[in-house]
Amino acid sequence: MTEARAGRPQVSIIGAGAVGTATAHWLAQKGIADIVLTDIVEGLPQGKALDIQQSGPIAGFDVHLTASSTGYDETAGSAVVVITAGIPRKPGMTREQLIDTNTGILRQVIDQVVPRSRDAVIIILTNPLDAMTYLAYKVSGLPRERVLGQSGALDTTRFRTFLAMELGVSVRDVDALVIGAHTDKDMVPLASLATVRGIPVQTLLSAERLEAVVARTRRGGAEITELMKQSGFTAAGAALVEMIEAVLLDRRRVIPCSVYLDGEYGERDLCIGVPVVVGFGGMERILEAPLSDAERAAFAASVAAVREQLAVLKL
Ligand code: NAI
Ligand code: 2OP
Repeated sequence: MTEARAGRPQVSIIGAGAVGTATAHWLAQKGIADIVLTDIVEGLPQGKALDIQQSGPIAGFDVHLTASSTGYDETAGSAVVVITAGIPRKPGMTREQLIDTNTGILRQVIDQVVPRSRDAVIIILTNPLDAMTYLAYKVSGLPRERVLGQSGALDTTRFRTFLAMELGVSVRDVDALVIGAHTDKDMVPLASLATVRGIPVQTLLSAERLEAVVARTRRGGAEITELMKQSGFTAAGAALVEMIEAVLLDRRRVIPCSVYLDGEYGERDLCIGVPVVVGFGGMERILEAPLSDAERAAFAASVAAVREQLAVLKL
């Protein structure tokens, strides 16, 4: 593998499964950080790291990939730690059904990772996402600004994709936002704020077509899981890299993330997806989006759904 550079930030990815690998792949191509990939399965992160490293000469990146399946020392001093470790859902399963197994895994990982990278921004992917982000925030003792859950970045890229398909325009000209819980039933695609180059999509699509796009967005993950009998990973990896890049390059991108609310949106003591300005410190601030009455009611239902997940955690 190529040599690690002392001045280059390091990103550790815990869990070298489908999404962990896609994330390492997308991130390597950006050329902005050395990468540490870990997993409990011996040989898996080593093989994945080597495979990605060998694409460097063609893809044109020279970042360094390291792997470990025996411990966490290689993750020390990371600027960002992404946690994808855990079990994914199978066809017909909800994300919420993963809670018991993934709680145990996440607790173990947080205990190992945080003391070695005290200044890191931690990004959680493991489902059920909002409960796992809350668990990570509580167990890690880190300030809320440095614990982000990846949910809305993926749900929003799905919403933008489906809107562009419906309208027959480039995805580059579609702007949109999905907030709320990362669940099929309770995520809140904000149709009232979606635009094409500033033109509200509500003026371009009938209410029925727009509702169909919203419904497809909510089931965006389930649709893929039903088709390939495995949950999606490419878009999830890209969504994680959008967040990682915003932190490393202090971009102050506005990305919907699951974060701990302390009065914002009228809620406290839970993690849920809201628009966040993401920069070097992680969450720089939360933006309040103007919601329609229907969206406000949907967000309230979403909060209730997350609180049900949190009750299971018994923290
Ligand atoms: P996967 O099964 O392909 O990968 C998970 C990896 O975690 C496996 O390689 C496994 O060996 C590893 N692992 C398990 N326990 C570990 C531990 N204690 N330490 C280190 N590694 C450990 O699953 P996939 O598809 O990558 O999904 C991972 C998680 O992310 C699942 O919970 C899934 O539901 C969730 N997910 C969340 C998304 C989101 O938008 N928030 C999107 C896609 C997946
Ligand atoms: C997704 O949305 C399963 O949470 C995962 O694809």
